[in-house]
Amino acid sequence: MHDAHMTIAAVLTAAGSGSRLGLQLPKAVVPVAGEPLVVHAARALLAARASDGSAVSQLVVTAPAAHLDEVAVLLADVVEAADVRLDVVGGGRTRQESVAAGLAELVDEVDVVLVHDAARPFAPVELVARVVDAVRAGHPAVVPGLPVVDTVKRVGPGDGTGRPVLETVPRSDLVAVQTPQGFDREVLERAHAVGSGRGAHEETAASDDAGLVEADGVPVWVVPGDERAAKVTTARDLLVAQALTAGALA
Ligand code: CTP
Ligand code: MG
Repeated sequence: MHDAHMTIAAVLTAAGSGSRLGLQLPKAVVPVAGEPLVVHAARALLAARASDGSAVSQLVVTAPAAHLDEVAVLLADVVEAADVRLDVVGGGRTRQESVAAGLAELVDEVDVVLVHDAARPFAPVELVARVVDAVRAGHPAVVPGLPVVDTVKRVGPGDGTGRPVLETVPRSDLVAVQTPQGFDREVLERAHAVGSGRGAHEETAASDDAGLVEADGVPVWVVPGDERAAKVTTARDLLVAQALTAGALA
């Protein structure tokens, strides 16, 4: 990807139910600091600028089927201010299927695709730019990663009281991966096409897009992540996000 000009699209996944959060609303429309998670996430994607000035020009959002219009209305102001094309599409049975549905909406000119989770609403613009710049520098698949702070062990099948440790995995070789992830469009589309059979069930589906690209034999590159891009999964995570946006922990 050494072209003079990049046309960047973002697929923003927001179609999950948020079952671990446990609220009545889909997670992406839960408000923090007065705005839904999906709006925060979209704003950062659209505000980011790569080193060459490139910005996202198409935003594709995956949403629960019953919330398509609602999500479009929620995003109208952010999208209008940025002069960006918005498409809102129904999600699939898994995140993998949702991203695939989003990719089907890309306009012809797009050559770089960011895939980002609405569940990471406070990914900073610098992180978005870092990912795009690494794609532009020639890496066809780029993920942000942070060092793993806990000691990690591989375990075997349990006996009802616990599980046996098989080995301690060297932590210095591990990163915890975030979004946005950035891809050469053709690489990502091919990886999704090749891996589509996995997408129907949570047990087989890829939990991130880079996993599909790896499985397709294409190298994936890690750039430094950012703890502000933490994922909101549980009620505790939501409380932390609320406290951070209120300035209590910043
Ligand atoms: N997602 C999606 N389509 C799905 C499942 C998930 O677009 N079928 C999106 C979610 O909206 C979220 C991101 O993928 O932005 C990461 O998923 P996760 O954190 O697991 O969110 P949920 O699936 O909504 O939460 P849970 O697993 O607790 O139900
Ligand atoms: Mg999920």
